[in-house]
Amino acid sequence: MLLEVSGLTKRFGGLTAVADLSFSIGAGEIVGVFGPNGSGKTTLLSLIAGVHAPSAGKIIWKTGEIQGDRPHDIAAAGVVKTFQNPQLFAELSVYEHLIIAGHLMLKRRLGWRRIATLINAGAGNAGGDLERRAGEVLGLCRLEAARDQTAAELSYGEEKMLGVAMALMCEPQLLLLDEPASGLGQAEIENLEAVLRDLRSHGTTLCIIDHKVGFLGKLADRAISLHHGAKIAEGTPAEVLRDPSVIAAYLGHRHD
Ligand SMILES: Nc1ncnc2c1ncn2[C@@H]1O[C@H](COP(=O)(O)OP(=O)(O)OP(=O)(O)O)[C@@H](O)[C@H]1O
Ligand SMILES: [Mg+2]
Repeated sequence: MLLEVSGLTKRFGGLTAVADLSFSIGAGEIVGVFGPNGSGKTTLLSLIAGVHAPSAGKIIWKTGEIQGDRPHDIAAAGVVKTFQNPQLFAELSVYEHLIIAGHLMLKRRLGWRRIATLINAGAGNAGGDLERRAGEVLGLCRLEAARDQTAAELSYGEEKMLGVAMALMCEPQLLLLDEPASGLGQAEIENLEAVLRDLRSHGTTLCIIDHKVGFLGKLADRAISLHHGAKIAEGTPAEVLRDPSVIAAYLGHRHD
């Protein structure tokens, strides 16, 4: 297994957002996470990515425990989370965002002093590697045509795709996506689906949260469903989505 979570628990004061959760993700899988609003999905991904430290439990990445490690160390080890809504700089281009994301990744990996040496030496050359990776990522995310547009000029779908593209600059082995399809139109969802399938065929493992059952149900190989932070079902997406406890959990909440 690439990632194994066991007994994972996160309490915020008196509220248990993730409750004694165990599951695993194999290399090359697309794993879907379903669950009504407030069921702990975002908290789960944040725990895996190191944004929050767990109250209890273990997260084993490949061969070592990573629970409680800092986000940049976890990213450097190959696990990266995209944000539900990426923070972009209105006046910077798509390409510039990728280069900045790449610099942040290099900074984490190498430290600023080492980057300065590489950039000043010119030949080395971190700049060239970043440009090459940015070109690859633009292609993978089908953003070539938007390369020189500023973030202010992007459609909502392109903004969200740029959030994915920035995460890919870190060359993650496991990419955690928080509601990548929310707010997208049908054509944008189909584009996203094709991009995510391509990513997987290039060797990236994916764990995806989404409420859009039609999108994630089709894309995921395997799914889990959460309710009040606990796992209530696991199996193929079809099995999970017809599980009576999952249906009851969703009906208990109003959701599209
Ligand atoms: N930083 C925090 N401090 C306190 N409570 C939090 C914090 N983050 C999340 N929670 C609470 O934990 C529970 C789970 O929240 P979480 O955001 O993980 O749910 P979710 O399944 O992602 O919901 P949604 O579908 O609405 O995005 C909620 O009750 C939420 O209010
Ligand atoms: Mg959420």
